[in-house]
Amino acid sequence: MSLRMSVIGTGYLGATHAACMAELGFEVIGLDIDQDKIDSLTRGELPFHEPGLPELLRKHIATGRLRFTTSYEEIGGWADVHFIGVGTPQKAGDIAADLTFVDAATRSLAENISKDAFIVGKSTVPVGTARRLSKMIAEIKNPDISIGFAWNPEFLREGFAVEDTLTPDRLVVGADSAVTEKVLREVYARALAVDTPFISTDFETAELVKVAANAFLATKISFINAFSEVTETVGGDIRTLADAIGFDVRIGRRFLNAGVGFGGGCLPKDIRALQARISELGLERTMRFLSEVDEINLRRRDRVVYLAEDMIGPLAGKKIAVLGAAFKPNSDDVRDSPALDVAARLFNSGADVNVYDPKANANAAKRFPRLKYVDSAFEAATQADLVILLTEWSEFRALVPTELATVVANRNFIDGRNVMPIDEWEHAGWNITALGRKFESKN
Ligand code: UDX
Repeated sequence: MSLRMSVIGTGYLGATHAACMAELGFEVIGLDIDQDKIDSLTRGELPFHEPGLPELLRKHIATGRLRFTTSYEEIGGWADVHFIGVGTPQKAGDIAADLTFVDAATRSLAENISKDAFIVGKSTVPVGTARRLSKMIAEIKNPDISIGFAWNPEFLREGFAVEDTLTPDRLVVGADSAVTEKVLREVYARALAVDTPFISTDFETAELVKVAANAFLATKISFINAFSEVTETVGGDIRTLADAIGFDVRIGRRFLNAGVGFGGGCLPKDIRALQARISELGLERTMRFLSEVDEINLRRRDRVVYLAEDMIGPLAGKKIAVLGAAFKPNSDDVRDSPALDVAARLFNSGADVNVYDPKANANAAKRFPRLKYVDSAFEAATQADLVILLTEWSEFRALVPTELATVVANRNFIDGRNVMPIDEWEHAGWNITALGRKFESKN
């Protein structure tokens, strides 16, 4: 008989996992404590932009394989495998991860499980959490039922969430027994049939793999951005540098795009939580480099503001078009977004900021309601003294310099993502610079 699954937490990770498990043929119930979320998911509506996911959601609500609830009692008496996919945000006023939701979800589940089952953690957690939760479950659960436990981190990227879940590049499972591992092999049978690597390990390694991957990616971005600071001083071309080192297969070209840096709901908080956890373990020095990675990343935002001031003088009263608010293209996510942070800093310096993002205006407006949001790049640029590109949406890459020139007050452009053909823009009379380029200060 096919496994029945519950997925606890219906945010990015949980909603995607639930819909993808239904797509794999399982019966799935998604659980959240937020009734509004459950109501909108039940109507087939997603609270975030993710290509392909709304279709999958509606498809499996229609097939009857996917439904949603707020009742732990319901899933506890029904599912064979329970996935925990709740958020682990950064704590307020601290760099550590907030485990309130993971702890609460595990506790509620353990209290309500009324048949033999498996609990599988997917959230990104500090090392040691899985072992602690497995003890907690053993203490709380009804002694007559048996529960297997595993940690199985998720590596999905926003914008590719469905693809990454259905065809992952690897599966990592830290299980408490061979029986639990066997069930996870059954869950992921389709990916295993095409030889997806399955890494069978312990709880601690499984937890660490996830944060190690994100720390590595963040370090790679800050590495190239540190070289940006060098080329900004001595000259040279950061893109060529990245291309050239990227040909070395040991290095690889991906995640070497210099620009305004990384943001989003994962990389920034994960490198901070890792430092906090490692310090807690008495290894303060070990991950100290990650605070440099974070600082280099945040300095890129300062650089954009510095360039803006240098280009157009004091920002108070100046009209600036900000192209992009999402933390990366093809996403409406503005969590820890460098683009939105820069827009807010320009606004706080007194500039009249017009923001346009193809998908993230609404989310950005919720976070920074005082910025002005408009409906196109041209509208944002109308009468602008300066245009700044901060999220590399393809529609911004396709802007034609001679056309944009007709609406601005002054042809000043900062390319915060290194994606524009600088020569073409200069040819059209623009004063344009990019992060990583030597900039001749007028002052
Ligand atoms: C990341 C990880 O890639 C994923 O495996 C994990 O599960 C969750 O965190 P995501 O947050 O969706 O995924 O974004 P990602 O595509 O990794 O980009 C992160 C940030 O880095 C973005 O702000 C992006 O603009 C920036 N970035 C990426 C760069 O600045 N330069 C690059 O070369 C690549």
